Amino acid sequence: MMDMSGLFLSSVYRSWVDNERTQSFKEEAGPKAETPENPFCMVAAIDFGTTFSGYAYSFTSNESDIYINANWGASVGQQLYRTPTTVLISPDQSEAYFGFEAQQKFLEELEPEEVSEWCLFERFKMKLNAELEINPRTTMLQADNGTSLPAQVVFSHAIRLLKEHLLESQKQSVLATEVLWVITVPSVWSDQAKEFMRLSAIKAGIPREQQLIAYEPEAASLYYLKQCKQTPQRNPAGTVSLDINKPGVTFIVADLGGGTADITVQQIDRTTLKPKILSRPTGGPWGGDAVNVEFEKLLDSVFGKEKMDGFRALHPDHWHRIIREFEIKKRTLSPVKQVPTRLVFPAGFLSYASSHQMSLAESCSMYEPKGALTWSIDKIRISSDVMRGLFERTIKAISDHLWEFITTNENNISFLVLVGGFSDCPLLQEAITERFKGRLKVITPGNDGGLCVVKGAVVYGQNPAIFKQRVAGYTYGIECVEPFDKNSHPIELKEVYEGGVEKCARVFKTIIKKDESVKEGEVRKLRFHAVRSRQNSMTLPVYASEKKDVKFTNEEKTWKIADLEVRMPIQKGGTKRQVEVLINFSRTTISVRALDLASNNTTEATLNFFNDYS
Ligand SMILES: Nc1ncnc2c1ncn2[C@@H]1O[C@H](COP(=O)(O)OP(=O)(O)OP(=O)(O)O)[C@@H](O)[C@H]1O
Ligand SMILES: [Mg+2]
Repeated sequence: MMDMSGLFLSSVYRSWVDNERTQSFKEEAGPKAETPENPFCMVAAIDFGTTFSGYAYSFTSNESDIYINANWGASVGQQLYRTPTTVLISPDQSEAYFGFEAQQKFLEELEPEEVSEWCLFERFKMKLNAELEINPRTTMLQADNGTSLPAQVVFSHAIRLLKEHLLESQKQSVLATEVLWVITVPSVWSDQAKEFMRLSAIKAGIPREQQLIAYEPEAASLYYLKQCKQTPQRNPAGTVSLDINKPGVTFIVADLGGGTADITVQQIDRTTLKPKILSRPTGGPWGGDAVNVEFEKLLDSVFGKEKMDGFRALHPDHWHRIIREFEIKKRTLSPVKQVPTRLVFPAGFLSYASSHQMSLAESCSMYEPKGALTWSIDKIRISSDVMRGLFERTIKAISDHLWEFITTNENNISFLVLVGGFSDCPLLQEAITERFKGRLKVITPGNDGGLCVVKGAVVYGQNPAIFKQRVAGYTYGIECVEPFDKNSHPIELKEVYEGGVEKCARVFKTIIKKDESVKEGEVRKLRFHAVRSRQNSMTLPVYASEKKDVKFTNEEKTWKIADLEVRMPIQKGGTKRQVEVLINFSRTTISVRALDLASNNTTEATLNFFNDYS
């Protein structure tokens, strides 16, 4: 009888037999940069941030030198290590620009009537945080002008343009096929969001064999560990060693970016002297960008939300200038000095205000406390207290989260390493250092915290197996059937098989539990029986769950992430035939292989996390 399993769940037949674990450090095939037969002559990392993006790279011939492009924004008189994560797409989608070029085109080169037709996307990485159901086919992003485009188009343009920028600058030395690309993602992201980035990179012309995904705080810690090895790290007074690179040292790395605070606990393993991850990543949407949102709310409260919304819709380019000005000024704010911040507003705002009866000076003068805001001609003057107030909520959210996390964590954490652009904020540094005084040492590794991630991602690409242990963010399992037991199985899951044998369907056979540690390269094995003597294939549905303990695949917060179908052409052996499933945890991926022991037929899958995507 032909078994069309894979088409319908009801035609999936398997039964649980055995569960064994092996620990193997055998390297799986896949991208790596350290063997003599390594086809890559360059490791290039793309740090795709919420607010800023950039790349760094090293050549296989000399891995200790890591290069970055220090010339972003040269065309607009800037010289920066990163470029804004801004994508501009023409109305017919034939042209796309990224970073400063996108901003320049939007602000300076488009005709006024074109401004509302072109699609400008900013802060769009946050969408993958907020969205519960991400799907490469259906998830859309709304541009500033209200037009929606598939999110994957926008993400892939961004990755492609960064990739092309690097390849263009290195065209004398490398071919596209010789580069191993490392793409950074927040470790707190869902599996779906991480896979979405992988697929976007493929669409951007980076095949799966040439890409690695690095988690942002993990990458940052690798860079700091490297720095500790190269130069002794001490506190500013030179009295305390800030070297976290010692056996058994446990530390937290918090990547404080534009969109997210992304936190991991790591420990230097006493035997391997390599870092290992001790607990599931934690964090939330508390990035430096939230301060800009507070500023936006302040203007809404002073000048009226309706009027400000009207202005933003009518003059997105002028609104953009205001935020850009704020972005520069917010970085100069002192934690203590009473120096007001002055922001010049563009002419478009002034003419909008006069045609909409907005009395700017009067609105500012009514703000409490009196004198905190004043308006003169084309400038708003904001007192330093009000400016500091804009940071308060975000800094408190980060600090409270860290406090709760550290005080409830059973590991003996001795360092807190703050990286990411927002960690450069003196106000934040002061607040966190003060809160953790006497409890642990707070480290801010450099002047440009944002670069730790991208440089560390290169270090990761040079040795992708460096993290010897990770912690599962979800519970994973395979759906199977088992002999029906009326005491423990729900009656509605009872199914009758050959010879009247009663089985319970939809049983969740756990591969790994949420929060469980897994070693780099570890392989877990499960074995399943055929349940019909003449079945000629077996489908193994792989599930993920947010719950720690899962019994059945139809429980809440549990969903299917892949179907693995293996052919079983040899029918001799009937229901004694077995399929062995090998689940391999390597780097940031879980791959699954099913082997029909009778025929040696195999099927492999890297879990794709999207049910209907191919
Ligand atoms: N000196 C500073 N003072 C205050 N905020 C700062 C300072 N320097 C950078 N920031 C803020 O840090 C954020 C950018 O950090 P970073 O470049 O690490 O973010 P990202 O990588 O774009 O975002 P994410 O990692 O969350 O995706 C911005 O919100 C920026 O305003
Ligand atoms: Mg970042």
